[in-house]
Amino acid sequence: MLDTPFTFELRGPGFVPSRHDNHIQRTLASMRGQYCDPAAYEALLAKGDALLYEVYELNRPHKAGEVLHGISIVHPGRVGEEYFMTKGHFHTVLETAEIYYCLSGQGAMVMETPDGEWAVEALSPGRVLYVPPRWAHRSVNTGAEDLITFFAYPGHAGHDYGTIEQQGFRKLIVERDGRPEIVDNPRWKKITN
Ligand SMILES: [Fe+2]
Repeated sequence: MLDTPFTFELRGPGFVPSRHDNHIQRTLASMRGQYCDPAAYEALLAKGDALLYEVYELNRPHKAGEVLHGISIVHPGRVGEEYFMTKGHFHTVLETAEIYYCLSGQGAMVMETPDGEWAVEALSPGRVLYVPPRWAHRSVNTGAEDLITFFAYPGHAGHDYGTIEQQGFRKLIVERDGRPEIVDNPRWKKITN
């Protein structure tokens, strides 16, 4: 790992960083239980384990003072009426924020806090999204092309995927009449710690 200043290129159309240390690929099989329509999920999985999203990370120490950063690419598609999306997470250190910069595609960030607030912000090229501390976040691709974002967050934030795996997000983004729509998640259930 470099401990002197470094640069890398981030250019379209693909926006794969010219330098990266990790390439994470999440497929449909890793999202079992996360989509609201289990029958549609099983039917799609029977056709093959589709690649839903990819993350390219630059490796930095996971400690305060560092800024972890990389690129997220959510591919287009749907499970039933629900768009392809990331797992979504809270940060383990809840009081840590994140910045996203949309490079390509059309989509939305679905967010919520443990206190019952929720928000959905549209993502399109050139738009910056600030996710404040305490807000869980999930990228959703509502378009026909890859949704590509650059992200950066504090090195000590950590990822809590388990809470979202168990309770989901309060809101889903589904396609209705050919357009994205925000709806209540009928399966949302607050877990008790
Ligand atoms: Fe995050």
